[in-house]
Amino acid sequence: MSSVRQSPVESKVASSLIELRDVVKTYATAAGDFTALKGVNMNIGAGEFVGIVGKSGAGKSTLLNMITGVDHLSEGEVIIHSNGSPVSVHKKKEDEIALWRGHTMGVVFQSFQLLPMLTLVENITLPMDLCGNFSPKQSRQRALELLRLVEIEEHAEKLPALISGGQQQRVAIARALANDPPIIIADEPTGSLDSVTADHIFELFARLVADQGKTIVMVTHDESLSTRFTRALQIADGELISRPERSGAQSKGDNDADLNPKKSWWRRK
Ligand SMILES: Nc1ncnc2c1ncn2[C@@H]1O[C@H](COP(=O)(O)OP(=O)(O)OP(=O)(O)O)[C@@H](O)[C@H]1O
Ligand SMILES: [Mg+2]
Repeated sequence: MSSVRQSPVESKVASSLIELRDVVKTYATAAGDFTALKGVNMNIGAGEFVGIVGKSGAGKSTLLNMITGVDHLSEGEVIIHSNGSPVSVHKKKEDEIALWRGHTMGVVFQSFQLLPMLTLVENITLPMDLCGNFSPKQSRQRALELLRLVEIEEHAEKLPALISGGQQQRVAIARALANDPPIIIADEPTGSLDSVTADHIFELFARLVADQGKTIVMVTHDESLSTRFTRALQIADGELISRPERSGAQSKGDNDADLNPKKSWWRRK
């Protein structure tokens, strides 16, 4: 073992795309302050498919909200190194961040967050129309293709309330892909799906990483998925911990035990 111990911030990801430095999130509640993230350091490289695994309440959604900037952090910094220039997410102006996020990341929310007054196809064209990467005609065409990809095209003109939770989840996944972003951040994206459909979505994500070089960060409470990511990080009580079955002893920090993409399940086939 090297005598020089790398700090989690400096861990072995060659070129970091997503970087968290000492991220703390404290919620103010009626019962007092509650610290949901206790100084998280993390580096995710381009082309990784990272799973964040942990029990309910561990801080998974909070962590993703810090990466996407949909919620404020209390301390620390999140830096996204896309397009060659680092962006400190929480230093961006309110009016810039939504557009920047639209170009940079597709987000699948745990609660889907589909707009109830828009049809499914409109829910997917909206982010494209906001970002302007596609003409209105192209965006509708692309939205229908994405709905086909998640096998829900026949419901395209329905409102979200008229389809099931699992179907809504698939629309949320399609919407996250709409602008063809380099980064996909997905919170329990298979949580409402049957096992066959969940596997289909997992394979879709794996293909996006392997074939298109996307970077995906996916939250799950399903431990059995851990071996299918290029890397799995475990979170408990607001802290990243090394996975005990690999390290023997738990320690805080960024776990890169599964970093080698060649070991991933879909490349072994
Ligand atoms: N807005 C909030 N105000 C106060 N406390 C919150 C808030 N959001 C989350 N928490 C608390 O922070 C902790 C982490 O919550 P978080 O939603 O990140 O967990 P999670 O790992 O995503 O859980 P789940 O698997 O159930 O979705 C929990 O104890 C939760 O009660
Ligand atoms: Mg959650």
